[in-house]
Amino acid sequence: MINIAILGYGTVGSGVAEVCRMNQDMIAGRAGETINIKKILDIRQFPDDPFASRVTSNADEIFSDPEISVVVETIGGATFAYEMTKRALANGKHVVTSNKELVATHGPELMALAQETGVAYMFEASVGGGIPIIRPLNKCLSANVVTRITGILNGTTNFILTKMEKDGIDFAGALAEAQALGYAEQDPTADIEGHDAARKIAILASITYGEFVDSEAIYTEGISQITTADMDYAVRLGSKIKLVGAFRRREDGAADLIVAPMLLPGSHPVAVADDVYNAIMVEGNALGEAMFYGRGAGKLPTASAVVADVIECAMHIGKVPHLMPWKRNGRDIVSRHADCLVKALIRLKKSADPEQVNRLCVQYGADWLESAREGEQALIVGGAGNLTEQALAQVVAELGEQVLSRIRIL
Ligand code: HSE
Repeated sequence: MINIAILGYGTVGSGVAEVCRMNQDMIAGRAGETINIKKILDIRQFPDDPFASRVTSNADEIFSDPEISVVVETIGGATFAYEMTKRALANGKHVVTSNKELVATHGPELMALAQETGVAYMFEASVGGGIPIIRPLNKCLSANVVTRITGILNGTTNFILTKMEKDGIDFAGALAEAQALGYAEQDPTADIEGHDAARKIAILASITYGEFVDSEAIYTEGISQITTADMDYAVRLGSKIKLVGAFRRREDGAADLIVAPMLLPGSHPVAVADDVYNAIMVEGNALGEAMFYGRGAGKLPTASAVVADVIECAMHIGKVPHLMPWKRNGRDIVSRHADCLVKALIRLKKSADPEQVNRLCVQYGADWLESAREGEQALIVGGAGNLTEQALAQVVAELGEQVLSRIRIL
């Protein structure tokens, strides 16, 4: 029997218990032994839960128990969860997590500590929810230089944007619906402002480099400014607006990284992902393109990935499952955002000075786009493929209050 403990009995933690119960015999067959949830750490009580008797608020009961060999960390955040994870690894327990904030922030230290104590730190569920992506990058695609990753990496924002697109409701209405359905947190800032997606694309880039990629160095823009008027232009262009996390490896080895709402051609492979689905396209120099698609958020999909890692640990008790760790090398891999190339749609008030706009069109190579709304006009800049982010910012600054919105085009 393999004894495990779950730290944090919220949505994902309780999902882990549910999956372990639901598929108990099959999991035991694959793991080679029964997985027994011996303890659950939470300050709350869950009297109606089948595992109610195993809930404790005393972490010592877990760390001092030599029978517990795998700890599932589903606390979230990078403070208390960091302390708990360090304690578990230092005590020679494998740790499995869905906590992308912690992996993106302290991954190198935690992986080094795991190596030191001969255990594993596993985080398949930290990116893409239930979609396999961490292990494929670490193993199946390890013969490739990964040159590009384009992903819809946040389920909550994808749900909101899909609602806006399909039902014509505004951002506030779609967010309220996401909250009512339990997708968005009561404080959904990390989702809607893009930080969650930035952490996820940073984790994927870190795996491909074997070096720490700082999510805080990634230019990140959220979706709260997107309007139904922007959606009309998406329809006009045969596109969808998605929160995209994009990584491109430059020839000099630097990483162009961005998280922002983008107009994505309807024919782009990742554009198939609607609602809480995620899609991640990976391009390798030997493989070409591969697509990973599925439920990127939610209780059981995320728990599915966590429990798979628990099974992997159970199969390797006494050994360390091999994944490619990344280290801090002190170099800044993320390239300067201002130098990255960009293409964008700019919506302008009808009153914008035509002479000024025409001058900018000549200077920066913009093209008019037939307006999708009364009382405004629209331009596409960067179509020639040589507009930098810095130049885009200049165009927008020069047009000032005439600008209704600007959205990048993938
Ligand atoms: N808040 C995250 C999302 C959960 O909506 O994608 C899964 O990481």
